[in-house]
Amino acid sequence: MSDSKSVNVYWHEHAVSREEREKLNGHRGCVLWFTGLSASGKSTVANLVDHKLHAQGVHSVVLDGDNVRHGLNASPDILLKQHDEVLAKRFGLGFSAQDREENIRRLGAVAKLFCDAGIVVGTAFISPYLADRNRVRSILNKGDFIEIFVNTPIEVCESRDPKGLYKKARAGEIKGFTGINDPYEAPVQPELELDGGKYSAEDLADQVIAYLRKVSIIR
Ligand code: ADX
Repeated sequence: MSDSKSVNVYWHEHAVSREEREKLNGHRGCVLWFTGLSASGKSTVANLVDHKLHAQGVHSVVLDGDNVRHGLNASPDILLKQHDEVLAKRFGLGFSAQDREENIRRLGAVAKLFCDAGIVVGTAFISPYLADRNRVRSILNKGDFIEIFVNTPIEVCESRDPKGLYKKARAGEIKGFTGINDPYEAPVQPELELDGGKYSAEDLADQVIAYLRKVSIIR
């Protein structure tokens, strides 16, 4: 048997309910789960949506893959610089299928905490595996998980290449780079699909805001 003490861990009901928080906020909480290739526009659109929501008094936040991978889900090399070898080995997360799975598992749990606090949380992670995204969907209440497929053709993503990573992947300097030599499993029935090859980030952000109004998350 594992030494997990979960049998003695209990769920504590909060004194302030989610409904009470949402009433105070004047809008519902939800998770806007942006998924797509690197450089597809996930972070840009998520941040534009965040900005537009903030401007109209909606409590929102963005969780960004690159940023979270500097802290909660730090890569082994970052942990090595900050802490020690043992920590890096045990908890560092890279880009293997297993590490991506754990990355998304942790972030799904974090997104749920924000959502239950009545916040509109935008997440910008490649999250290439269907099963990992569906697991996040399954821990959230119906209607709370809004999967947004940022569908930008790989040629467009590669031509943008803001971090020079596609170039490195093509040169064989990065192994297992999503879309080049690692899989991306597109959503089957996303709540929303954004055509990143056709519309500007501004237009795509407006499409997200319109969706949030349509499903009465915001007024
Ligand atoms: S995920 O697959 O686990 O969801 P996440 O969104 O956290 O990925 O991180 C993706 C970011 O890490 C990319 O935007 C890119 O900057 C960087 N990155 C570094 N190595 C890789 C890789 N092998 N595949 C994809 N992205 C990578």
